Amino acid sequence: MCDIVMEKPTDSIQDYLSLAVEVAREAGDFAHRAQVSELQITTKTNEMDIVTQIDSRNEQKIRDTVLARYPDHVFLGEELGASDGQAGSTAPRGAKPVTVRWVIDPIDGTVNFAHGLPIWCVSVGVEVNGVVECGVIYNPNLNELFSVRRGHGAYLNGQRISVSKKSNPLQGLFVTGFPYNVNENPGSVIEQFVSFLGRGLLIRRLGSAALDLAYVACGRFEAFWEMGLSPWDTSAGQLMVREAGGRVTHYDGSDYDIYKKSIIASNGLHHEMIFGILSETFTIQR
Ligand code: IPD
Ligand code: CA
Ligand code: CA
Repeated sequence: MCDIVMEKPTDSIQDYLSLAVEVAREAGDFAHRAQVSELQITTKTNEMDIVTQIDSRNEQKIRDTVLARYPDHVFLGEELGASDGQAGSTAPRGAKPVTVRWVIDPIDGTVNFAHGLPIWCVSVGVEVNGVVECGVIYNPNLNELFSVRRGHGAYLNGQRISVSKKSNPLQGLFVTGFPYNVNENPGSVIEQFVSFLGRGLLIRRLGSAALDLAYVACGRFEAFWEMGLSPWDTSAGQLMVREAGGRVTHYDGSDYDIYKKSIIASNGLHHEMIFGILSETFTIQR
């Protein structure tokens, strides 16, 4: 009689998603317990671009937890950079060996966080051979956990979400963000904002690009646009918008790639309008 050989189950995207939920929750809850008065604030590219000790701690903790389970996975995060020294996209699909990269924003909305304003989150996206397969955006302030898996939909606290169906822009709500060097008016960002306001559209600026995307995905906003973002801001959120039935492109209308800078994410019904307004003033760049 021969022994039955139990095969070790192969790692699956679902396992990565479960782990992403676990690490995002731990990091978000840790940050949520922090006292604003105890934050150590340092600056990065300029005086407005700040980071706290909690941002760095969270990113390190997420990496350590993932590595304990998957020693060959790699990371790209806002505070600790690329663990494999590769800042751009990882291997194309189908490449072997498989590269699994965790794209991490340990606190998205750090300025809000540092002011005690409860509009920030932890964002984690998991890329397999250059394709974002799943992700999590967790806002502990509202106990809202958004999750997504490519081909399986987007969820808020376990309930499936979808983009809004509102087609009248004057009854919609829109959101944008500004880069930390907005004073230099890169890409005519100030004229663009004025153009939107001049049309009477209702616009918000929350200060967390990942939440902006999650809120488009669940229908709270009709659309979001911003230039100058980084992969960690959008990796999870862009997939949420697409899986929730929305559309995501760059400012020039091309297919969205998290390693390029600009983003328009919408319910699909306002995309052309936003693209048109941005094109009037924007010196096209991705
Ligand atoms: C910032 C936020 C903000 C956006 C900035 C981002 P951070 O991320 O997402 O909404 O306007 O462009 O850099 O610095 O808080 O992680
Ligand atoms: Ca960010
Ligand atoms: Ca951040």
